[in-house]
Amino acid sequence: MNFHILTLFPEMVLGGLNTSIIGRALKSGLISLEAINIRDFSNNKFNKVDDYTYGGGAGMLMQAEPVYAAYKNVEDKIKPEKKKRVIYVTPQGYPFTQKKAKELAQNDDLIFLCGHYEGIDERVLEEIVTDYVSIGDYVLTGGELPAMVMIDAISRLVPGVLHNEISAETESFHNNLLEYPQYSRPEVWRGKKVPEVILSGNTKEIEKWRLEQSIIRTKERRSDLYVKYEESIECIDALKKNKINYADIINLFETGRAEIIHKDDSQILVQDIESMNYFYVVLDEKAKACDVLKLVEQRENQKSDFKIVCHDKKASKIIEQYFRGNVRKEEYTQLVYTQKNRLTIKGMKHPKVDVDNSVILNQEKILAKANICTNDLTVVSSICVDENDEFNLFDRQTILTALINYYLDLGIMPIFWMKNDDLAYYDEAINKTYLYEAREKVNIFFIDK
Ligand SMILES: C[S@@+](CC[C@H](N)C(=O)[O-])C[C@H]1O[C@@H](n2cnc3c(N)ncnc32)[C@H](O)[C@@H]1O
Repeated sequence: MNFHILTLFPEMVLGGLNTSIIGRALKSGLISLEAINIRDFSNNKFNKVDDYTYGGGAGMLMQAEPVYAAYKNVEDKIKPEKKKRVIYVTPQGYPFTQKKAKELAQNDDLIFLCGHYEGIDERVLEEIVTDYVSIGDYVLTGGELPAMVMIDAISRLVPGVLHNEISAETESFHNNLLEYPQYSRPEVWRGKKVPEVILSGNTKEIEKWRLEQSIIRTKERRSDLYVKYEESIECIDALKKNKINYADIINLFETGRAEIIHKDDSQILVQDIESMNYFYVVLDEKAKACDVLKLVEQRENQKSDFKIVCHDKKASKIIEQYFRGNVRKEEYTQLVYTQKNRLTIKGMKHPKVDVDNSVILNQEKILAKANICTNDLTVVSSICVDENDEFNLFDRQTILTALINYYLDLGIMPIFWMKNDDLAYYDEAINKTYLYEAREKVNIFFIDK
């Protein structure tokens, strides 16, 4: 992840972000950071970048051209195939949330534009900005602190930055709950004891207590979040009636990635906030599908294409009819490894799976890169990073096995989507039953407007 900050005070952001966990991530190269001084792109001899506002009013405004020139200087260096966003930090933006942090963390390059004085000439904002984001309903003197806040929150979601991937998954806002109270040594502090259950060593009981505390705390402090939590529990209960079929969507809820767009007794529509793919479930015949799909269209009105994932025949039919002429269907099979035990890897050398899901045979050689299915539409069987390598069936089986073990170690249910052509290929190759018990069709609809 590369961060680029357009600012009048580069030393402020560089100084502030170069310490502790983020500083370490910068040193190790997991993230990179550059601060571009907008003043260097001023076109007058006094290095002035601000002027009076037309129409009167107090204060000065940052002019369009120096901002644009600074932006172009950064943009020209970013390869066109990279995923990038340009964020103007402003009190007029959408509120910055953990969800927004997750969404932005999916990009390769993030350009932050920091305003000062009264802000920035509207015309350059219209020209370059993709996201307007605010850190709260108050006005600061400049955008440097908001940009630093956002970069800190996004960086800790970059694989490897926290070392322990799970820790970002269990914190506040995960699954719309605030985190439970925590305690460290000593057991008694000024007469206050650590709750007995925490000291019991009984992991199940501790987990139960923590969930209860999270619920109580969220209800008391953030009733708005609690409503969302209740709604997600209702969705999970409905989906669990067909647990294997909807394993991927349940996984989205359990890892805090599902945003409910619509839910009623007969249908559920959620969006994966990381891949931005929609998942549409029709639970019974009464579903008023058109209204729900209209919601998707409204949300996507700026984008030319998006994807909807479907497991049910009824839902698939509805999508095909609604988007007639603009929709392409790809058929996959969802394979779910439902056992808890790790698999043994026979033959070859033992591959290691890295934090970014690369299966690595040794230090240099990457065998394959795969994503848990809901991350993206990548499929384990069709991925070979090194084009020159001929992978035989045995290698592919080993890669799959390594990935299953990796996800199990992380406490994530291994779910894969495989192209139906590849499946026959695997049937021959894998003389095991471990994926066979949970095989369901999944359709992916590519909507092109
Ligand atoms: C004094 S503010 C300008 C406020 C502007 N006149 C308005 O009313 O929207 C200067 C800059 O600080 C940044 N800023 C101030 N408050 C912010 C907030 N709550 N979230 C994000 N950025 C903020 C923005 O980049 C803004 O351009």
